[in-house]
Amino acid sequence: MERLQKFLSECGVASRRKSEELIVNGKVKVNGVIVKTLGVKVSDNDIVMVNGEVVKKDLKEYYLLYKPRGIISSVKDEKGRKTVVDLVDVDSKIYPVGRLDYDTTGAILLTNDGELSNLLTHPNSNVNKEYVAKVKGFFKKNDAILLSKGILLDGKKTKPGLFKLKKYDKKTDSSYVKVVISEGRNHQVKDMFSSLGYEVLKLKRERYAFLNLNGLKSGQYRKLSLKEVKQLYSLKQKNKA
Ligand code: URA
Repeated sequence: MERLQKFLSECGVASRRKSEELIVNGKVKVNGVIVKTLGVKVSDNDIVMVNGEVVKKDLKEYYLLYKPRGIISSVKDEKGRKTVVDLVDVDSKIYPVGRLDYDTTGAILLTNDGELSNLLTHPNSNVNKEYVAKVKGFFKKNDAILLSKGILLDGKKTKPGLFKLKKYDKKTDSSYVKVVISEGRNHQVKDMFSSLGYEVLKLKRERYAFLNLNGLKSGQYRKLSLKEVKQLYSLKQKNKA
């Protein structure tokens, strides 16, 4: 059971506040009866109508996409470029959870579950994200220590994470660095490297929480299992504690 205004907002009718107005103004019926008070609770078995039309919750859907380069992480792009949503063939209104830059590749979640999306992208969510960054030059041990401990970025210290040199390629004078961070600030990985003078040539997200790219090729996606969805919800609860 949940409050009628929450139910309406989850059905995509309107925001919770606007849904309250609809209720108070007598636009909402539950099982054929107009409801004008705000305390009423409903379940998925109740028939809810707004302005004479039945409203229902969309079934929740969850996808893991291996995002290719040159794709925008949003629902629509005003310049008409392809978006991550264009790559997933579903009818429901899914959207990406957080963002990867246009030129970043790798794991990104898409869903129409606003509650889970909010939990995972909340600044305190602490969801681990693992990247491999190819940076210009040799990545020094001391810089790995500094970045792992946290540095000032836009006046705020980054949370502790892991920055570790995997391989230095002499031929191209570039380093492959494993990065694990739990925040999701805009362009965070690139900005952290850049604050110490490193240019990021390539960036790939290998893992989002426990979800890696195993079995997926660039541009491919798969549905999450119920177990994985539950794990994502419980992850947040663990981190809350
Ligand atoms: N950090 C970045 O700088 N870019 C991304 O796409 C993801 C993390």
